[in-house]
Amino acid sequence: MTADKREYGDGDATYQAAGQLPGLTQLCDRFYQIMDTLPEAASLRAMHPADLTESSRKLAFFLSGWTGGPKLYREHYGPISIPQAHAHLPADLHSTRAWLTCMDQALQQLDYPNDFREYLIRELSRPAQRVLQVCQHRMANS
Ligand code: HEM
Repeated sequence: MTADKREYGDGDATYQAAGQLPGLTQLCDRFYQIMDTLPEAASLRAMHPADLTESSRKLAFFLSGWTGGPKLYREHYGPISIPQAHAHLPADLHSTRAWLTCMDQALQQLDYPNDFREYLIRELSRPAQRVLQVCQHRMANS
């Protein structure tokens, strides 16, 4: 099997398929543009700062390492646990679904192949589910 035929998730295959850092930067910028305008993402948008520039950069840096590329988030901001980083937020099922919808639409708009979009959304559903669990648990116990 040649290097460009690797399965997503194998080494940095996902990072390469995403278009490396320029691709991830474009993806995260589009993700936040969609979040900024999609009515069903309004409660999710409201959890974020007014200026989304830094949020987009942080997400792109995180996804770089998460997809098997350079661990840019760690290099620039230090270690992160995604569930713990979100534990203070009022995330519910609606905002969690909206997060994944924004990402799905960004992948569609940027014409990533369907199999890549489906793979990435499936994989991102795991941390999204963890974020939801941690936030729900914190809210139920506060
Ligand atoms: C599913 C529900 C989610 C909600 C409601 C949510 C919401 C948020 C909010 C409000 C912020 C703060 C932005 C800022 O202050 O700049 C944030 C930051 C962040 N999110 Fe999420 N997020 C979700 C899922 C995810 C997932 C699945 C990932 C990655 C796999 C992710 C990665 C990040 C990263 C890396 C940051 C920056 C953390 C920091 O340095 O403060 N988020 N998110």
